[in-house]
Amino acid sequence: MPLNFDPYDPAVMDDPYPVYRRLQEEDPVHYSTALRSWVLTRYDDVRPSLNDPRLSADRISPYLDRISPSEREKVKTVGPMLQKWAVFMDPPDHTRMRKLLNHGFTSTALNEFRPKVEIIVERMIEQLVERGADGRNVDINSFAYHLPATVIAVMLGVPESDVEQFRAWSEDLAPFVGSATATPDKLGLAENSARAMSAYFADIIRDRRAHPPAPEDVTIIDHMIAAEEGGDTLSLAELISNCVLLLFAGHETTTNLLGNGLLALIRHPDQLQLLRDNPALAETAVEELLRYDGPVGSVARSVLEDVEIGGKTIEKGQRVFCMLNAANHDPHHFDNPGILDIRREKNRHLIFGYGIHFCVGAPLARMEAHCALPAMMRRMKAIELGDGPPVWRDSLVLRGLSELPIRFKPA
Ligand code: HEM
Repeated sequence: MPLNFDPYDPAVMDDPYPVYRRLQEEDPVHYSTALRSWVLTRYDDVRPSLNDPRLSADRISPYLDRISPSEREKVKTVGPMLQKWAVFMDPPDHTRMRKLLNHGFTSTALNEFRPKVEIIVERMIEQLVERGADGRNVDINSFAYHLPATVIAVMLGVPESDVEQFRAWSEDLAPFVGSATATPDKLGLAENSARAMSAYFADIIRDRRAHPPAPEDVTIIDHMIAAEEGGDTLSLAELISNCVLLLFAGHETTTNLLGNGLLALIRHPDQLQLLRDNPALAETAVEELLRYDGPVGSVARSVLEDVEIGGKTIEKGQRVFCMLNAANHDPHHFDNPGILDIRREKNRHLIFGYGIHFCVGAPLARMEAHCALPAMMRRMKAIELGDGPPVWRDSLVLRGLSELPIRFKPA
């Protein structure tokens, strides 16, 4: 069979790892006609490409230049908003933005927040256990979604009662940002949600500036409002854009970590039992779950000047997908990459990226999983798949489930 990587082929969505392996062996720098882009699968190509200044993270400006004036008019809020997302910026703008953003994610800020995360985890597990108490099927996805969405909302000073509203806005924005779903009027939906989120955060920021909170109620927003680097601060538009980015980046990725991770454990009962018997393994287990079937399938870059990768020339203007889950299964870097081993020690996976764009939320995502997994093991026994198969979302950027029915016995 000739190789033409199509990430939307249902068999590939279900299990992309066999095709990743073939690509690594037969065509590691592959041109996919389905994607009209280059696809990198080897660790030694993916890692340097993530941090190569000739490969730009800015996919928004070329898009805005390419579309017609009437389309540009349709995205006049969401286009400029995405241009201010750190993840779509190149240096020197990225360097400045990232320094200011880091103020919200210092280890002191995160440590102060940990007790709140623990309380949210306990409360949500309690609700989950109640729902599944009589052996009924529960969709673990709703827990996996609500936990990170609530954590990032609380961290941003958004009331928990508005989490559902944010879910709706994020879902309207997702197809425009990179999901494959063929959504009619994706420009209109993205524009409306960007307007609504801008107005929402503008109010919160104005309010918090006017009434600075007590030290115990300080949130990421307050750290970002106060952030100052060499006399430079974030403008209101930058603050709003990056609040939307944090909200967007901060929930579905961690949702996928919990969902994909639990599925992997259910499919490997020996590893599930090992974790249940040894909660101290939570840290290496989370790293292994991030590596084994990670929440982010790919990261895209656009080529600023001709580059040679693996003996092939990739031309200026073309697009490159760095396949993170493929790189994390490269046998040159991981022993028996297809085996789930929650005690794995040499585990330098790339799921949080590499270099200047390395995920700012990585410590938060890890903290949530370190709290949630042992709590699930404590409160839920005999976890198994429920009725109906797990269903994968059709996204190239994110790898996650839309449905994961399970059954368990309350412990
Ligand atoms: C398991 C969960 C997560 C995974 C796997 C993940 C993965 C990633 C990856 C691969 C990148 C690099 C993108 C690139 O190179 O273009 C990234 C960047 C980023 N992530 Fe995460 N992420 C996760 C959770 C979070 C959370 C919880 C937050 C926020 C609270 C967050 C916020 C960000 C931001 C703001 C960036 C942009 C950083 C920059 O461009 O300098 N992420 N993430």
